[in-house]
Amino acid sequence: MATTTYSLAELETVFAGLSVETPIPQYSDSDVLHNPLDLCRSYLADLLCKVAECKPATAYRSIQWPNNIFGGDLTVTLPKLRPGVKPNEFALDLMNKFPNDHSLFLLPMLDGVHLRVFIVSETLSRLFLPYILDRKTTFGSHDTPSFDGLRKKLVVEFSSPNIASEFQGKHLRSTIIGAFVSKMHEALGWEVTKLNYLGDWGKPIALLKVGWDKFGNEDAYQANPVGHLLDVYHQIEELFQPEMVASRQARDEAARNGQDEGEAQLEIENRGVYAERNAASKELEDGDEEALAFWKRVREANIENYKDFYAELGVEFDEYTGESQIKPETMAEVEQLLKEKEICKESAGAWVIHMQDYGLKAGTAIIRDRTGATTYLLRDLAAIIERSRKFEFDKMIIVAANDNNMHFIHVHHILKAIGMEHLANKVQHLRFSEVSKMSEKLGKGYRPQAIISHCEEAIAAALQTDKEKAEMFGCPAESAKALGVSSLVTHELSTRTASTHSFDTCAMTSFKPGTGLDLQFWHAKLGEILAGHAVAKQLSDEDYEALADDNPANLLRILVQYPEVTHAAYQSLEPAAIVTYLASVTEQLAECLSENEEVIEDGVDPFEDGVGAEIIPKEDTANDEAIAPGFIALYEATRVVLENGMHLLGLVPYANV
Ligand code: ARG
Repeated sequence: MATTTYSLAELETVFAGLSVETPIPQYSDSDVLHNPLDLCRSYLADLLCKVAECKPATAYRSIQWPNNIFGGDLTVTLPKLRPGVKPNEFALDLMNKFPNDHSLFLLPMLDGVHLRVFIVSETLSRLFLPYILDRKTTFGSHDTPSFDGLRKKLVVEFSSPNIASEFQGKHLRSTIIGAFVSKMHEALGWEVTKLNYLGDWGKPIALLKVGWDKFGNEDAYQANPVGHLLDVYHQIEELFQPEMVASRQARDEAARNGQDEGEAQLEIENRGVYAERNAASKELEDGDEEALAFWKRVREANIENYKDFYAELGVEFDEYTGESQIKPETMAEVEQLLKEKEICKESAGAWVIHMQDYGLKAGTAIIRDRTGATTYLLRDLAAIIERSRKFEFDKMIIVAANDNNMHFIHVHHILKAIGMEHLANKVQHLRFSEVSKMSEKLGKGYRPQAIISHCEEAIAAALQTDKEKAEMFGCPAESAKALGVSSLVTHELSTRTASTHSFDTCAMTSFKPGTGLDLQFWHAKLGEILAGHAVAKQLSDEDYEALADDNPANLLRILVQYPEVTHAAYQSLEPAAIVTYLASVTEQLAECLSENEEVIEDGVDPFEDGVGAEIIPKEDTANDEAIAPGFIALYEATRVVLENGMHLLGLVPYANV
């Protein structure tokens, strides 16, 4: 059974064998070759057409996926099937007409305005166990978005740390969410380009240059380039901080007096570190050789360091671009459009856009500051235009924390104002909550690698607390590294993107369902159980019947939902949906195994069906005699789903071999 490649014809042969009517009904929204529930939806829609006497499209649209198996395998929303009906009467009528010996569906249950539909367990295993085992690594993925026969192009921009300062919690979360978004789209057939848009230009780099001239030390740099640069940055930041506070106070004071910019503020900014920073920024913008050589050195040292960290996380980029890489010609092009259309106005030496004229209630967007330097905003406007020309993308997703919200709202409205609405609509800012408390835990001056070491230490401690489970992972020192990364990645993806999120090593290193440690544990456990067992080519009727008991049947019903879950996560861009789902898989697997282990340990036939009745207590048995063939197939299918889900999240299933 593991050797078939399920085509429509082969599916129909299986159906015919189960006395389900063929050919398989065709619905345009249905993807029967990739999604088992779509197959059931199509049959249910056909059945509803007959019993409710409605149009096929109406019937199909009335069927939903209930999110968890306890509400049925599918639900029918009665008012969608026939608007304005009294659900009770309508349901009664439908149920009277519903065949009570259907080989695919049990008689539905009425629940409010819904009919809850359950698939017949025996059919479920006969149909879908081979389906999952046949699809293997592709189960849950499919080629959707073809466009005139071409694959659609997606650009994902993520991580994007600022090279002058530490890699923050928000950059970590962006890295992990961005990698997920990329994998998810690849699995669904998009051509994906991954960009890292470094914050490698502008005032922070200029400040670092001022710091380097005061505190830089070549020997210290050679010994630890990124570490020394961070030291230098903190030293100059300390000197700069009071000036910045004073300048802000002066600006607020001026604003209270109804002025845009006051004398007092200018005076502060024209001396001290402020003035030095502005001068360094001008040198950079003007292409001063020494300033550029410094910037290049800092950039390269950081990229090398990031690459090392990303490799530990298993993340790769197609391109390291950054604010510094935006061409002056493209920025000039944007400015020209803005000036021609009189969108951008001069104000106290700076070029600004009053956003109340462009679809927002208030706000001023700065295109060039009063020192003549380009801004983050101007660079982003130009970056989007450059990328659209270079990659000809159908869609671009920029994964950046909530602190960028207003910025991207400005970007969107300005692109619209300059006549690029079409482009603006292709760009999505995937925002997420930035609270992390990571810097509090790691202190100042950490390199990103410290994040992983911190998790590794927490894992090593967690493995001490549950020695029995820890045994599954073999050598603690070796496993701590792999498990540290898994725990971190899963934790970052486990809360909805908009929910507050913290860097909580305690939560991330527990064995609770849905943690990286838990997923890895059950994956390893399946490896142990299945070692030496091959899935049988053909299962007998008894094998299938054994799987009709609640625990195995529920496990399979959960597995069958996987393509539905990936599709929902793809549409919502919420990886947490996959984490929650995988937690339900491991919980149900645990139920199944504990029932099985109990009986195995007691030395009785687990299925009370005579099959595998020679089961003997665990200690005395060779692995291969303890599990019935149906269960081997079920556990293998569970491993397929667990692995596919883990890969999608960016985890490498840990193998203790
Ligand atoms: N470097 C920015 C930050 O640290 C994130 C960049 C977001 N992307 C962009 N195209 N502006 O917040």
